Amino acid sequence: MNHYERLLGVNIDHVATLRQARGTRYPEPIQAALVAEQAGADSITLHLREDRRHIQERDVEMLCDILQTHMNLEMAATPEMAAIATQMRPADCCLVPEKRSELTTEGGLDAAADSDRLKDFCAELAGAEIRVSLFVDPEPRQIDAAQKIGVPVIEIHTGHYAEASQPDAIQSALARIANAVAYGQQAGLQVNAGHGLDYHNISAVAEIEGIREFNIGHSIISRAIFSGLHQAVADMKRLIQLVAANSH
Ligand code: PXP
Repeated sequence: MNHYERLLGVNIDHVATLRQARGTRYPEPIQAALVAEQAGADSITLHLREDRRHIQERDVEMLCDILQTHMNLEMAATPEMAAIATQMRPADCCLVPEKRSELTTEGGLDAAADSDRLKDFCAELAGAEIRVSLFVDPEPRQIDAAQKIGVPVIEIHTGHYAEASQPDAIQSALARIANAVAYGQQAGLQVNAGHGLDYHNISAVAEIEGIREFNIGHSIISRAIFSGLHQAVADMKRLIQLVAANSH
């Protein structure tokens, strides 16, 4: 039974990617955030990367001022990012691993290996009234670590599921996600999910009971090229909520 609302966080990084590709003033990520909110996004996600390849500090600052939903700022757990986050105070911060050479975030945070440092880091953000989430692979030991660190939220990395192409691999990736969601809920954590989710693979994940929020970017911005952003966000929101509607 699915008695809770599934939420959609729209990641607008790739609007900024297009802007940065030419060094122009357009397309404007702020405009994208406002359209996404109007179309039903429950939050706006953006990743301020160390190399500033897409989102800039100016985007974070302006969005903090104007969002009517709330901001989920993705960032690496570095002193520079702690300083920016505690100054700008987004509602949510999701800590992700970051490598300069990667095309996109490649895996979850190794919270288990870095728990002492992350505990202090998360406490500093929590002190600024930021709700902290850790982006982790669907592994019990990472969820144990998140609980030990003391964060209220985890985001399960769905990238391995999204990349799987054979039916067996897809089913086993889904089972790992479902187990991790149940495990996280038992640990008292809010469980979100994201990475690589698109219009074809979302429904099977949305059927997993207990995922509160889906953070989705690349597929929505890509679809917007052909359908417009409002429609692209509304279509994704409908797919996420269809499961809840069907179960009533
Ligand atoms: N969640 C996290 C933690 C991410 O790092 C990303 C990518 O920035 C996403 C969700 C969104 O992934 P995608 O763009 O593949 O939908």
